[in-house]
Amino acid sequence: MSVNQYKKIVVLTGAGVSAESGIRTFRDKDGLWEKYKLEDVASVDGYKKNPDLVLDFYNKRRQDFCRKEIKPNAAHYALVELEQQFSGEFLLVTQNIDNLHEQAGSKNVIHMHGELLKARCPESNQVIQCTDDQSRDDLCTCCQYPSALRPHIVWFGEMPLGLDIIYHHLSQADLFIAIGTSGTVYPAAGFVEEAKSVGAYSIELNLDPSEIHSHFDQVVQGKATELVPKLVSSLLNGA
Ligand code: OAD
Repeated sequence: MSVNQYKKIVVLTGAGVSAESGIRTFRDKDGLWEKYKLEDVASVDGYKKNPDLVLDFYNKRRQDFCRKEIKPNAAHYALVELEQQFSGEFLLVTQNIDNLHEQAGSKNVIHMHGELLKARCPESNQVIQCTDDQSRDDLCTCCQYPSALRPHIVWFGEMPLGLDIIYHHLSQADLFIAIGTSGTVYPAAGFVEEAKSVGAYSIELNLDPSEIHSHFDQVVQGKATELVPKLVSSLLNGA
């Protein structure tokens, strides 16, 4: 398999790519959705009912993420290498709200579920950096009557970010790779079908077979830090 046979690569990552960096996934054993109810802390209704609970949930995620031992891993770095060495177009779509892909050096990244280190004005949609705890007293500076800032996170019941660009790239992709995602949350779980409908070859790299593994042309089970560097090396070296 050589990267030279492809013109456009779209990679989709999920929580599994950051797991070996020390960030808990959602649906594995000890995952976040074992401890929290998704509808309480990650939904539009949950935020309306109890904004403090939701802010606290993301404050904990932010504190956890900002620990100095949390660093990009070999899978993040391998994707940087692929982006740099590939002469065609490359898009990295992540469902992750951490910025480990950017810390590693990835450039063309879309955070379809938002970003943990950002907050947003709900009125103007202005996005600002946010590395500290957020409270309901944190107001925007963009509106005449300041509004309480909210996490820059896509909750269940909201539209993911960057979908126009993502679907545009998927409609031209000839290689689609999904890494570390359980394939349970749409629309991301539908991207493989989208790419396949235009003839793209599809590869899944995941610890366990995902919910949608049967849609892929190739499924490889294992750890992202081992599988991603191996795949990137075989793509770049034509092995
Ligand atoms: P999940 O927690 O649903 O799935 C993580 C996947 O990664 C599982 O299939 C694991 O088998 C796999 N995995 C775990 N460790 C791995 C490793 N070291 N190497 C490779 N794979 C590994 O996470 P996502 O699929 O990302 O959305 O979840 C999708 C969305 O659901 C999230 O973005 C979040 C969540 O609710 C929102 O909050 C909007």
